[in-house]
Amino acid sequence: MKILIVGSGGREHAIAAAVAKSPKADKIYCAPGNAGIAQIAECVPIGAMEFDKLTAFAKEKSIDLTIVGMDDPLVGGLVDVMEAAGLRVFGPRKNAAILEGSKAFSKDLMKKYKIPTAAYENFDDPQKALTYLETAKMPVVLKADGLALGKGVLICETLEEAKEGVRTIMEDKKFGAAGNRMVIEEFMTGREVSVLSFVDGKTIKIMSSAQDHKRALDGDQGLNTGGMGTFSPSPFYTEEVDALCHKYIYQATVDAMAAEGRPFQGVIFFGLMLTKDGPKVLEYNARFGDPEAQVVLPRMKNDMIDVVEACIDGTLDQIELSFEDNAAVCVILASEGYPVSYEKGFEITGLHNFEDKDGYYCFHAGTAVKNNKIVTNGGRVLGVTAKGATLQEARANAYAATEWVRFDNRYMRHDIGKAIDEA
Ligand code: AMP
Ligand code: GLY
Repeated sequence: MKILIVGSGGREHAIAAAVAKSPKADKIYCAPGNAGIAQIAECVPIGAMEFDKLTAFAKEKSIDLTIVGMDDPLVGGLVDVMEAAGLRVFGPRKNAAILEGSKAFSKDLMKKYKIPTAAYENFDDPQKALTYLETAKMPVVLKADGLALGKGVLICETLEEAKEGVRTIMEDKKFGAAGNRMVIEEFMTGREVSVLSFVDGKTIKIMSSAQDHKRALDGDQGLNTGGMGTFSPSPFYTEEVDALCHKYIYQATVDAMAAEGRPFQGVIFFGLMLTKDGPKVLEYNARFGDPEAQVVLPRMKNDMIDVVEACIDGTLDQIELSFEDNAAVCVILASEGYPVSYEKGFEITGLHNFEDKDGYYCFHAGTAVKNNKIVTNGGRVLGVTAKGATLQEARANAYAATEWVRFDNRYMRHDIGKAIDEA
């Protein structure tokens, strides 16, 4: 089979690596890809939002299966455009990707179908939002409605801060059109867990759990980032939590989307908070998490192509997902200054250390080739992942492996997976 993967980050590298393990994969392309993906796939210089070019490329090369990794093209309707051209694509159509594309939509869906989530109100008028805040309990959470690179969420401690936040989102449009509407919701406390799932429109199969570390600095301080590291499984995702999620959240979400005439086919990422009143949905994403995919997919035993095809064909009920009985930790090597401003173009050395090392992976996120050398080309540069028999062992292995690669201005958190010790 010929497979095309759309995207250019560490998540797409992890997807490409999983696909490459399948005996069914004869040739893998990635658009646009990166320097690491180029080692297992042919990268083509087409952007993820260039729908016509992607479709023409897939037709010309007779691609059998396209896997869309990123949120922007999914929310923008790439799957619809490619399907209309007769192509087979893995990922939700536009009318289902709205589960991630509009927080107001997803909140209304959860309310209508009684899926546990934080209490909230939607606003499209900043004046009404400001009035509502006068009587709201602090802290309060403000969310831009649309896609905002994971940065459109503000947690406000005081009324003043919250009012300023409404102005930032809805009037100054800090997150662009994503802030034309907003959600104001109750602040919840508890541990966060990421659960990824495969969905075929009716059936849902849950992958092994994971936990991200969103803040830039050790001790969960500093600004929100795309994710600084992950571990899988989460020891806090117990059998009891799993049972509650199955009862109230997973199938209920899939059924709700189908009932709304928006059958979801692809990956649903449940961002959960384990509150004292049980698990609640913080957010949905319509794709694999990044860097959750980097710790979940290397542990998956199934043939990735079989699972993806079952989602497209509506036969996921016949697949039994299984994961290795071990653990994995991913530490992101970033550029000093991320997520605000950072320099690029520094040579990366030591990448060869990962070759032929079982259980170790160096997923590329922001890299490029310049003068035949691999250089840094983004805020998040590499995702160093290692497996271990236990979470502790995986963490020790991952941190040891971070020493194998070097580049100027290299920055990482040193406490990825520290929470494991409290479990
Ligand atoms: P989201 O993009 O919706 O996942 O929000 C980003 C982060 O903000 C989450 O991972 C949480 O850490 C935090 N957050 C979002 N909603 C809430 C909430 N209702 N209560 C507390 N924290 C929240
Ligand atoms: N790691 C969080 C996300 O992919 O949105």
